[in-house]
Amino acid sequence: MTHKNKIDLNKQKLVLNMLGRLQKKDYSFSSGHILGSMCTQPHPIAKKAYNMFLETNLGDPKLFPGTKEIENRLLKFISDLLHSPKNATGHIVSGGTEGNITAMWMAKQLTHKKEIIIPSSAHFSFNKIASLMDMKLIQIPVTKNHYCMDVHETKKKIGNNTAAVVGIAGSTELGMIDPIPELSEICQEENIFLHVDAAFGGFVIPFLKKLNYDVPDFDFTLKGVSTITLDAHKMGYSAIPLGILMIREKKWLNEISVESPYISSRKQTGILGTRSGGPVAAAYAVIKYLGIEGYKKVVQQCMETTKYMEKRIIETGLQLVTKPKMNVLGIKLKHLNQVVNLLIKHGWRVNKIDHLSCIRIVVMPHVTKKIVDKFIPVLKKTCKKVGEI
Ligand SMILES: Cc1ncc(COP(=O)(O)O)c(C=O)c1O
Repeated sequence: MTHKNKIDLNKQKLVLNMLGRLQKKDYSFSSGHILGSMCTQPHPIAKKAYNMFLETNLGDPKLFPGTKEIENRLLKFISDLLHSPKNATGHIVSGGTEGNITAMWMAKQLTHKKEIIIPSSAHFSFNKIASLMDMKLIQIPVTKNHYCMDVHETKKKIGNNTAAVVGIAGSTELGMIDPIPELSEICQEENIFLHVDAAFGGFVIPFLKKLNYDVPDFDFTLKGVSTITLDAHKMGYSAIPLGILMIREKKWLNEISVESPYISSRKQTGILGTRSGGPVAAAYAVIKYLGIEGYKKVVQQCMETTKYMEKRIIETGLQLVTKPKMNVLGIKLKHLNQVVNLLIKHGWRVNKIDHLSCIRIVVMPHVTKKIVDKFIPVLKKTCKKVGEI
C-alpha cells in the first residue's frame, strides 16, 4: 500500500468513527425500544440491495434501464396486490407525504377545484398540501366509537368546489380504516376524485384479508377509488424512503408531468427530479424474497403480538382508546405527559397523542412478544408511580 493510500484510509477511518459516535446517540429498532414508529429495521436483503444501487438515478431512467426495469416490476407487484384495472399505473414517491401531495396535485389539475374533504384523523401532510397548493381542507369528524370518517357528513360537504375526498386506510393515530366502500360509492355517483391514504395500511390490509380478518375493501376493486398511496418503508419491511402512488388512469400522469429537455427521457413525472434507485431495489428485493406468503407471516405475527399486548395492557388496569383494527394500539392515560416522560427516562419511545389523551404503540415487526414482556412491567410501574392505576 502506498503512503498516500494509507493516509486516505486513516482519514476515512477517522470520519467513520466520528459518524459512529454520533450514531450511538440514536435509538435503534433492533433494540426493540422504539414502540411508536411506523417504520422498522429494514429486512436484511433490503440493506444489501440498497447498497448495490447507491449510484443510480431514476430521475434519468434511460441511463439506468436495469434499475428502471426493477421499478416497473415493483409497480407490477403493487398493481396486482391492489387489483388495479388495465389502464392503471403507478408512480414511485418518497413516502406518504409525497404520495398525498402528488395525488392532490393531480386532483387539482384534473378538476380545477380547490377543496379537499378529509377526515379529522388525516395525516398532517394535508396541512402542507393546503399551504403548498393553496387548497382548502374541509374536515369531517370521526365517529365516536370507531374513529372513522363519518360518511353522512362527508356526503353533505361534497359540493361544486370539491377537488377530492380522502379516506384513510390505516390512520396514523389509531390504525383505523375509513369506510372506503361507502366513500367509493358516493364518489362514483357524484364523479368525485377519491384518494385513499393507505401509507400505513397498504402493506397490512391486503394480507389481513388473505388471513380472513374482517377488514373492509379499500383498493381498486372499488370502482370509485381514484388513487391509493402506500409505503414500503412502513409495513413493507423495506428501507426509507419508498412509497408508491397507484393511479386508476394512466393518462392522469400527464397532469403531473413536465417536459424534461436535457435528460434522457422526454418527460419527467411527479415532484422529485433526481431520485435514488437504492430504495426501489431494496423494496423489490424484499417483495421477491418474502412474497405474498412471507408478508402474510409478518402481518400475522404483528397482529398476534398486538393481541398479546392488548391483553397485557388490560391486565394492568389500563384501557385502550378503541379495539385495534390493525397493529396499532392507543392506551388511554390521564397523566399523559408524566407517563411519557418516565417511559423515555427508562429508554422506551412511545408517541403521545394529546387530543386523544393516549400514547400510541405501533406493533411493527421489531416489537416481539419478548419486547412486550419487557415493556409491560415498566409501563405498570410507571403508571402506579404517577397514580394512573
Ligand atoms: C396515514 C399516513 N399518511 C401519510 C403519512 C406520511 O408518511 P411519510 O412520513 O412517509 O411521508 C403517514 C405517516 O405516518 C401516515 O400514517
